[in-house]
Amino acid sequence: MKGIILAGGTGTRLHPLTKVTSKQLLPVYNQPMIYFPLQTLLKAGIKDILIIVAPDHSGDFVNLLGSGKQFGARFTYEVQDKPEGLAQAFLIGSEFIGDDTVAMILGDNIFTHDFSPSIKSFKTGAKVFVKEVSDPERFGVVEMDESGRVITIEEKPEQPKSRLAQTGFYLFDQTVVERAQNLKPSKRGELEIVDLAKTYLEKDELSAEILPGEWIDAGTFESLHKASTIVRENDLGIDFNHLSSMQVEIQDIKKKISL
Ligand code: DAU
Repeated sequence: MKGIILAGGTGTRLHPLTKVTSKQLLPVYNQPMIYFPLQTLLKAGIKDILIIVAPDHSGDFVNLLGSGKQFGARFTYEVQDKPEGLAQAFLIGSEFIGDDTVAMILGDNIFTHDFSPSIKSFKTGAKVFVKEVSDPERFGVVEMDESGRVITIEEKPEQPKSRLAQTGFYLFDQTVVERAQNLKPSKRGELEIVDLAKTYLEKDELSAEILPGEWIDAGTFESLHKASTIVRENDLGIDFNHLSSMQVEIQDIKKKISL
């Protein structure tokens, strides 16, 4: 399975913090925000990762993250010229995805959950991950029946049918690119991730999993502040220096064995 981190957008809700940098490069306690979605993918064993960025600060992402080698991974970068919707990621990433299944995570979403088991068992269709919230109208909202089957999925409904918010982590099978190619922009002019999910729901191929643990969409001042507190209290930061020295050790060991 391949991975995509969608880290474009304008970040206007965080002005003036995002006037001269990207939201996903802002600090969350002691690390840049993008380290957290990156860590979520790496922890789940996804090593081939496309990072989609906005044009303005694209070079800063490359300076920060590099080729991926120091994380034991391989990074590809693409620029999204305009923020024309989350589902556009699959058009931008069509070549990268090729014939693979794909996990997409939003660059401002922070999770404590380990997605490895869901990724290992995922074969076809699409899967969204939901969490109960007090303000579902701010999110994509998923309605499920008692057996856990998805009944409806709607983007920021005025009258939500449930309190289950769709988080910014998604699994899609190989048909996602073709489906994204057939989407039409919504009234707000975006290719909506919810419309993409609906193409699976129509064929009864959409499943949802209720997430344990913490989830934060760090896109507002309040949630950004909360994110820093949660990262600090749960000691969530990854020790990337340790990780990179581990990679060097592993390479050294491999060399010795082959000698
Ligand atoms: O966080 C979960 C929510 O994310 C979901 O519940 C919603 O269904 C989903 O639409 C999304 O809602 P947001 O209001 O948070 O979407 P936003 O426009 O803020 O975009 C989310 C992130 O994706 C943000 O970091 C910017 C980035 N983005 C967004 C768009 C529209 C892009 O990189 N490119 C884009 O075209």
